[in-house]
Amino acid sequence: MSRLKRADRPYDIVLFGATGFAGELTAEYLAAHAPEGLRWAIAGRNEDKLQRLRERLPGRAEIGILRADVSDPASLRALAEHARVVATTVGPYVRHGEALVAGCADTGADYLDISGEPEFVDLMYVRHDARARETGARLVHACGFDSVPHDLGAYFTVQQLPEGVPLTVDGYVTADATFSGGTFASALGQFARGRQMAAAARERGRHEPRLVGRRAKAPASAPRFAPEVGAWALPLPTIDPQIVCRSARALERYGPDFRYRHYAAVRSLPVAVGGVAAVGALLAAAQVPPARRWLSGRLKPGEGPSAEKRARSWFSVRFVGEGGGRRVFTEVSGGDPGYDETAKMFAEAALALALDDLPPTSGQVTTAVAMGDALIERLRASGIRFRVAAAH
Ligand SMILES: NC(=O)c1ccc[n+]([C@@H]2O[C@H](COP(=O)([O-])OP(=O)(O)OC[C@H]3O[C@@H](n4cnc5c(N)ncnc54)[C@H](OP(=O)(O)O)[C@@H]3O)[C@@H](O)[C@H]2O)c1
Repeated sequence: MSRLKRADRPYDIVLFGATGFAGELTAEYLAAHAPEGLRWAIAGRNEDKLQRLRERLPGRAEIGILRADVSDPASLRALAEHARVVATTVGPYVRHGEALVAGCADTGADYLDISGEPEFVDLMYVRHDARARETGARLVHACGFDSVPHDLGAYFTVQQLPEGVPLTVDGYVTADATFSGGTFASALGQFARGRQMAAAARERGRHEPRLVGRRAKAPASAPRFAPEVGAWALPLPTIDPQIVCRSARALERYGPDFRYRHYAAVRSLPVAVGGVAAVGALLAAAQVPPARRWLSGRLKPGEGPSAEKRARSWFSVRFVGEGGGRRVFTEVSGGDPGYDETAKMFAEAALALALDDLPPTSGQVTTAVAMGDALIERLRASGIRFRVAAAH
């Protein structure tokens, strides 16, 4: 079905923000891995930068260039009209993202991003989900390290457990990596918008249909020692548990009563305490405009970890799933989470939407719902590991 959808448009995939740090890595991945005949283009606000980027890419003669600027909504609508799938890395999304979501929802183009911003995702649901359902557009947020390994890891874990019974899954994240200027700016922006984030979540709650006859929740939890993984577990209030929960709401396979908890796993208590203190200090500083400005000057847009640093980086998400008398331990793991693997997950998700036979979905959907099995298969083939470590 995906293969035929809107085949009359000039491009299968348009990558917007291709000249940024994450965008360039995604463009390089697509150039190296796109199947022959894929019609794709890089897009951004600066044509010279786009030309220079294209010069460096293999298969450059086949790659189109489109100019668009977030301050010009008509240029974003034109991107959507030219593409079957639009993938964007132009963040912070709460500031830059909405017009493109609107354009895709309205023209029926599939949309994906690497946003990890709950406020943005909730507002896009409230404002554009209904229109996207009418046109058949799939709006898939969080297609990077936020939240692909967590969403697909929970989905994979559920598949190892019995059907039709209450299930619990706990996810434990460990990683050794650093971040880019764009990510830092988005995170600081979010830290400063706690009230707006809560208001967007409430508005979403008023619009979202109630789940009838089933339950899916991601409750707040306290730090604790988790003997099942031999580490201190610190609750991680990222977008990931919300995304996992949305997949559970949408898919019957997660059972009649599903609960997910999301943690950072830290080996030693002093490191755990230090981590909590550092995040607390950053949160506090983000509330004070001069401190926020000083912090955001520490890392410039377009900057990020070097190829050498990324080559040494890694991530692992371990899951413990239980239900119906069975307990499974699974793991999703790979290399540099924030950039190399994010570019891979994002590009493979775009390719899946453009090329794979997927379940019919529309509106705001998670990666597990829109393309779960197909994307796991793609990621495994490209080196991200999904494994069952033990089952009892
Ligand atoms: N989910 C995840 O795991 C994950 C991982 C990595 C990054 N991210 C997110 O991805 C986003 C990008 O990060 P990054 O490090 O790649 O940032 P970046 O290097 O600063 O790139 C931002 C991109 O946005 C473009 N842009 C900015 N203003 C624009 C405008 N007015 N019109 C059109 N394009 C505009 C920039 O274009 P120019 O090149 O012309 O300046 C650039 O291409 C951030 O929100 C970050 O949080 C998420």
